[in-house]
Amino acid sequence: MASIRRHSRLGPAPYQPTFDIWTGRNVASTLGSMTSTLTTQPARDVLSRLFAAAETQEAQEAAAGPGRAPAAPARELSAQERADHLQDVYMPVSRDGGRLLYALTRAARPQTVVEFGTSFGISTIHLAAAVIDNGTGHVFTTELSSAKVDQARANLDAAGVDGPVTVLPGDARETLAGVPGPVGLVLLDGWKDLYLPVLRLLEPKLAPGALVVADDTSFPSVMDYLAYVRDPAHGYATVSFPVEDGMELSSWTGG
Ligand SMILES: C[S@@+](CC[C@H](N)C(=O)[O-])C[C@H]1O[C@@H](n2cnc3c(N)ncnc32)[C@H](O)[C@@H]1O
Repeated sequence: MASIRRHSRLGPAPYQPTFDIWTGRNVASTLGSMTSTLTTQPARDVLSRLFAAAETQEAQEAAAGPGRAPAAPARELSAQERADHLQDVYMPVSRDGGRLLYALTRAARPQTVVEFGTSFGISTIHLAAAVIDNGTGHVFTTELSSAKVDQARANLDAAGVDGPVTVLPGDARETLAGVPGPVGLVLLDGWKDLYLPVLRLLEPKLAPGALVVADDTSFPSVMDYLAYVRDPAHGYATVSFPVEDGMELSSWTGG
């Protein structure tokens, strides 16, 4: 008797015919079975673990409630002080945001990707996976918290995507000054009040058509950045994209 092979839930997707409206035929969908560095081990497992840890952390913070929040500081903290204060906090891009970053990096095929705000490396893993699958390019990412720099490097290594990544420890306003151009894709995800100065620092190095992705654009502290990229005089074609806390996708048409 012939044996019957069962597909495990995590195994290859079974053949599922799809109706093609143009030909009227059933065709096999390749979407369910498409593999990439992002969706195969070890990157897939490291991302699952990191997203789960970040979600647990957010749930614990929400359960603690506003009454448990630390008292407001007597003075405004510096970027470094904020980074040290939040050195255990993930604050990652959303899962959809990560997939969007992967897809944009595959589409744009940038030689140089720059990320402002590494944290534990969740977004960096998405960018690096795309660069690996493109077969070309390099990711420069920067992080102020030295504890997070060590964690991010370990996570990138465990995910098997550390090859095309340089993690620059320190303040983006200094570390990114030395990044080689032309820069084809930028992710802004550090402190929100620094999006604009970091963009202005990188602007002379942007390649024609370079994509600039800003995360968390629903935050009030991103207003000055949004006003800048949305002013046509500054040379961007820009659109707001509805993932979780909002992303702004801007293409550099100036220069
Ligand atoms: C929202 S988190 C980044 C999350 C990360 N992109 C991800 O998806 O996992 C912001 C990070 O930016 C870092 N950061 C903030 N200001 C910075 C600066 N001026 N230079 C370098 N890193 C900075 C913070 O320490 C923090 O870890």
